[in-house]
Amino acid sequence: MRKQTIHILAIESSCDDTSAAVLSDKRVLSNIISTQDVHEKYGGVVPELASRSHQKNIVPVANAAIEQAGLSKNNLDAVAYTVGPGLPGSLIVGSAFAKSISMALDVPLIEVNHMEAHILAHFIEDAHPTAPVFPFLCLTVSGGHSQIVLVKDYNKFEVVGQTLDDAAGEAFDKIAKLIGLSYPGGPLIDKHAAKGNAERFSFSKPKVDSFNYSFSGLKTGVLYFLRDSLKENPAFIKENFDDICASVQKTIIEILINKLEKAARHFGILQIAVAGGVSANSSLRAALKERETSLHWKTFVPPIEYCTDNAAMIGITAYFKYIHKEFSDLNSVPKARLYL
Ligand code: KG4
Ligand code: ZN
Repeated sequence: MRKQTIHILAIESSCDDTSAAVLSDKRVLSNIISTQDVHEKYGGVVPELASRSHQKNIVPVANAAIEQAGLSKNNLDAVAYTVGPGLPGSLIVGSAFAKSISMALDVPLIEVNHMEAHILAHFIEDAHPTAPVFPFLCLTVSGGHSQIVLVKDYNKFEVVGQTLDDAAGEAFDKIAKLIGLSYPGGPLIDKHAAKGNAERFSFSKPKVDSFNYSFSGLKTGVLYFLRDSLKENPAFIKENFDDICASVQKTIIEILINKLEKAARHFGILQIAVAGGVSANSSLRAALKERETSLHWKTFVPPIEYCTDNAAMIGITAYFKYIHKEFSDLNSVPKARLYL
């Protein structure tokens, strides 16, 4: 018989956030996230700098998570880490650290798929008053991924649609860069969009079959639009900044929501969840809320700290693996490409 409460130390280091969390079953005791700002001036994540920063941050971040949880290392029952997908040099840091802890404390090691974790964040105890009910659809939208997943159980995922090129967050970030915003540009576009007129400019939407997405055409469309407008008025971006942000944001969110609606109709599902960094977007949140009335959706949007990259989501996924004794051994290696 297993002991009453499971304490898991979880590590996330797939991209540019070093995060450690401690969970007591499905409850988050601590969730420390150290965001690397070294990438800001480069307009995107620089892999070599990311792995160096993880190396520097991982021990203090993990110590802080254990301390904030009010536990000692000896109270831990398992250690979990993000096995992929992600940047190889970043994943390796989390993997090496988690293996050392597993060996030193003689506790099981649990591998977690980052994309599963974004979805299972919905089952963290304080994420919602009630968790989604299977089967539900989850729109996972981040800087690296855009997919619609049919979630049938804690370990049964079917990707029904995904981006054929750029991810939604990548589109936000790349377009933000075109208008001179720093990385990551998504939250900044969101902030400026709140003051702008979303109807001011229109951009064409991609024609992609089934439930798939494409965002690279929009990025090119915005690039040409800005180039032409700047020829006529060199101050065009500056003078129309908020309206450009609002119009771009409206287009990206409409693209995301249209396919989500199509999938919801096709599968006859009304339980709709979102995950990943872009789910912090205020216009996406408003569009989902609106469909609670117009389409009778029950929508699930986790608190922002569980939407962007964080170790609590790795911890909750590891909890479900722990109770099914899905452990790894020290031969576990990170996988830059990993699918659901
Ligand atoms: O999930 P996440 O933290 O990391 C990845 O796994 O990629 O997502 C980061 C992405 C970035 O592209 C960022 O610009 C975007 O999420 N993002 C947003 C907002 N907050 C974060 N995009 C639009 N609006 C936001 N409020
Ligand atoms: Zn992510």
